[in-house]
Amino acid sequence: MSELSFKNSKVLVVGGAGFVGSNLCRALLAHELKELLIVDNLLSSDLSNVPADPEVRFIYGSIADDRVLASLPSDIDFVFHLACYHGNQSSIADPIADHENNTLTSLKLFEHLKSYAGLKKVVYAAAGCAVAEKTFDDAVATPEDAPISMFHDSPYSISKLIGEFYGNYYFTRHGLPFVKARFQNVYGPREILGAGRWRGTQHTVWRNVTPTFIWKSLQKEALPLDNGGNASRDFIFVEDMARGLMRCALAGTPGSVYNLASGAETTIRDLAEMINELTGNDTPLDLRPARDWDRSGKRFGSTDKSKRELGFSAKVSIREGLAKTIEWTLANRESIERCMRQHDYFMAHMR
Ligand SMILES: NC(=O)c1ccc[n+]([C@@H]2O[C@H](COP(=O)([O-])OP(=O)(O)OC[C@H]3O[C@@H](n4cnc5c(N)ncnc54)[C@H](O)[C@@H]3O)[C@@H](O)[C@H]2O)c1
Repeated sequence: MSELSFKNSKVLVVGGAGFVGSNLCRALLAHELKELLIVDNLLSSDLSNVPADPEVRFIYGSIADDRVLASLPSDIDFVFHLACYHGNQSSIADPIADHENNTLTSLKLFEHLKSYAGLKKVVYAAAGCAVAEKTFDDAVATPEDAPISMFHDSPYSISKLIGEFYGNYYFTRHGLPFVKARFQNVYGPREILGAGRWRGTQHTVWRNVTPTFIWKSLQKEALPLDNGGNASRDFIFVEDMARGLMRCALAGTPGSVYNLASGAETTIRDLAEMINELTGNDTPLDLRPARDWDRSGKRFGSTDKSKRELGFSAKVSIREGLAKTIEWTLANRESIERCMRQHDYFMAHMR
């Protein structure tokens, strides 16, 4: 069978205004699509991330809303489901909002898509963190078939797994061409600090470690290192992630799961030192105790299966990716500040 192609296809990206989604949309637009539909309720994203392109139709709303689902054309070829309730700490603060935007979303979308006869692939953004072994000893690369714990540190993590379970069910029962992409830690341009609505904690503003460190480092602030920065993660540049997602759509086997990872382990301390070096920040690091909710320790993903079956490998080194992200942050300072400032009241009144 010849490989699938995006040319002249209708593609739906749910959560396409978000960090990864907006990068994916830009990568997809290079493929002569017929139409690119983006559904997003801007819960954790900014409208400025939606590409201004005649091929793009932006539908503002929740994918769990029946009116939004009913407005979708029935001849969609590819779906990327990237919507979530961002992120772990927000889900701990409001598990019901997490359910509505991270679990119900997947169920309603898959239930709606089950009757789409022409669908070629549905790619789901799964989370490597929900699967990785929790260890502070030496980590080993997490393979796709690693055992999954029944005990999780956040509703977010549970929701990401439920999305996999539902997708597997719709694949088995209804033949939905469902492929799971398990993400490691993505970083890069278009992750806008403070984007979207207040979600109950300061992590609405300080979304993830990389954009936070870059922002603080550019302000010459001390970078905070929980647990001395000895946890480790697998950082993958967002352009590599977009390529990996497209490989899942074109070459992924329905019912299968693929890690999208760099395969390299980087400690948070090394990340902080690299960022400070690139921005020229010589303020000493701020060493702190461990966060109470995070017991995940060290982890990184195995890249063997995605290399073998998708022909996918991450190409951008962490140093190169960080340099590009810093450059983007400097060029987009004003819009990032605008998004951060909208939460000033909540940040000031938080206990
Ligand atoms: N960024 C990472 O490191 C990482 C790691 C593991 C998994 N993931 C997964 O990848 C996906 C994208 O993550 P991201 O970092 O781009 O996050 P993001 O918050 O930037 O993107 C999520 C998008 O979903 C939208 N959304 C939320 N609820 C919605 C709803 N009910 N209907 C429609 N849209 C809705 C948000 O407004 C946002 O634009 C998520 O599913 C996330 O769980 C990301």
